[in-house]
Amino acid sequence: MEKDAFPDVSAATADTLYQDIERNGFGILREAIPGWLLDQAAQEVRAELAATGAEYFCHLGQERLARTSLGLLGQSAAFHRLLAALQVRAGLPPGREERILPVLRVLSGAAGQRHSHRFHFDAYLVTALLPIIIPPGPEAARGTLVIYPNRRPVRRSLLANLAEKAAWQNPVAARALAAPWVQRRLGGREMPTERGHLYLFWGYRSLHANRPCPADVVRATALFHFADPHAASPLLRRLEARHHRQEGVAQPVLGRSWAAAEEGS
Ligand SMILES: [Fe+2]
Repeated sequence: MEKDAFPDVSAATADTLYQDIERNGFGILREAIPGWLLDQAAQEVRAELAATGAEYFCHLGQERLARTSLGLLGQSAAFHRLLAALQVRAGLPPGREERILPVLRVLSGAAGQRHSHRFHFDAYLVTALLPIIIPPGPEAARGTLVIYPNRRPVRRSLLANLAEKAAWQNPVAARALAAPWVQRRLGGREMPTERGHLYLFWGYRSLHANRPCPADVVRATALFHFADPHAASPLLRRLEARHHRQEGVAQPVLGRSWAAAEEGS
């Protein structure tokens, strides 16, 4: 059997990560990802940028990333165990067939400016951010993630969740949330992005977005989403069924696929 690319994390470390996320807004699993896997992921990104000439791309889902190094992490049993341990510590019952949703997000050129400051709440409770390619230079010019941690609880109702997202995920709110004085006032924080570390936070509960990147750099991050609090919602099922009929696609309309539309991690 192939060796798991993710380290086995002890219950004590999961406890510490949980406490850090609750208290500080995010937890850091240091030296979590082997160098060869990060090198391989960075090579895949650069090869795709060269082949397509695209400035921006976002690949979503285990199927889409299956043959990549990030797909390998998305299938990791040890990674799944850690995310499930955090979910349970947060008081959310484990889902029956909960899977990790990997996303690869790459910004370069003018797109690095356009796809910034899009503050949002994720559809999933746990978000893990893995830096793949981070531009050199000061933190302010690296597309750093800005996070307003733990701004809301997990909502019981999907409708309440959607209403709250609509209230915050718009250009007017984004402009305010991007302002340094608002960040100081409301406890906005910058999340450092060091290669090799994995950054964990409550994506569902935290407003977050990345700062702009200069046009001459590439920034690539992998995101791993886990635990949809509204997965069992009858309304969600109905919306998905309608979406499938209309679009004839296999992706659910909300929850799993929404993370793609929500940019900025
Ligand atoms: Fe996000």
